Amino acid sequence: MGIRWQEKVSDRSGSIHASFNMPMGELNSHPDPIRFTGGTPSPEFLPIEHLRDANRRAWDVEHTVMYYGDTEGYPPLRKRISQRMAQRNVDVSPEQIMVTNGAQQGLDLVSRVFLNPGDTVIVEAPTYFGALQVFDMFQATYESVELDDGGMIPESLEAALNRAERPKFIYSIPTYQNPTGVTISPERRGRLLEIADRYNVPFVEDDPYGELWFGDSGAPPLRADSDDVIYLGTFSKTIAPAIRMGWLCPPPELQPILQHAKEATDISSDRIVQRMVVQATDGGWLDEHLNEARKDYAERARRFFAALEEHMPEGTTWTSPDGGFFVWVTLPGDADSFELLFEVAKDGVIYLPGSIFYVDGRKSSSFRLGFTTLPMKRYEEGLARLGASLKRLLSS
Ligand SMILES: Cc1ncc(COP(=O)(O)O)c(C=O)c1O
Repeated sequence: MGIRWQEKVSDRSGSIHASFNMPMGELNSHPDPIRFTGGTPSPEFLPIEHLRDANRRAWDVEHTVMYYGDTEGYPPLRKRISQRMAQRNVDVSPEQIMVTNGAQQGLDLVSRVFLNPGDTVIVEAPTYFGALQVFDMFQATYESVELDDGGMIPESLEAALNRAERPKFIYSIPTYQNPTGVTISPERRGRLLEIADRYNVPFVEDDPYGELWFGDSGAPPLRADSDDVIYLGTFSKTIAPAIRMGWLCPPPELQPILQHAKEATDISSDRIVQRMVVQATDGGWLDEHLNEARKDYAERARRFFAALEEHMPEGTTWTSPDGGFFVWVTLPGDADSFELLFEVAKDGVIYLPGSIFYVDGRKSSSFRLGFTTLPMKRYEEGLARLGASLKRLLSS
């Protein structure tokens, strides 16, 4: 007979789904597609040799290190992270840092602690689909806040809070946002935090790209302006996503419960990898590494904008991020970037269509382009292909 598994799974399991819903198999019609979908560091800034050496040193341990580690993380790593936060004007002690398996685990732990089924999460429109995947698992409902070039629009945040039933937190990627690349402007930060405070709804700040500015310096995290912000950091974009190392910096009141949630989930993050990150970041290595990466990404962005200018159909607009990994392109008129994707894929280009970044399933004339994963020449060829394809499709 066999077990009838569908009768056994939880109600909640009906809300578990893939990070985004796209028929990728249908996009394989071209023999050599150029994918703008990546959101990872450029291969030359994935420091394999350096991590191999650091890892060897990280294994120089007593047998006791083979036991379970502290749930909140390896003390020297927490200290290193608090020093890095201080460089960006965030004053937190090592004891306030909790090591996580990437920012994604931070999102999961925060959701476990905050969300009852039906609670509202206030999200940016558009936002990171991997966060929605987590919030959905906890059966959240949503209200959307609109963005412009200065990030979250305060009036839209207030309207969303007014509409929301049982709002629990405001999920935001304030700096070099995924997917748009925009950053909350200095003038708006205070107002947004004041609104959050007045409505008694905290910000959850997800900040994977905040250290990847193109100019001389970047914006400090929102956490620098308020102790009530729950901050999520990660080494995924600054070192490598494979190491699964991130951190949470919660208000002290929440720390014990988040720690218990982490203990219940995985007891602790990998003790050796935590040691490896400490070894790898010794002696200011990460700052030097990031300085090189920032210069390279800035040059990539410059060439990318020039290629967009050269190839995109008339009336197309795009954001002009000053950091991060993404540009958000908006087509003229009422083009549907999801429908168009199936056609441009035949011409050898794959982007992420705007609609997958919205909670309300709205049609979108925008799409996300990443510019850090492939060699620049490929992206330039891809933008030429994309431009030609779109010009033909939009005029027919
Ligand atoms: C906004 C955002 N949050 C979280 C993550 C996941 O980060 P991590 O690899 O640290 O889990 C990503 C990865 O792309 C992201 O873009």
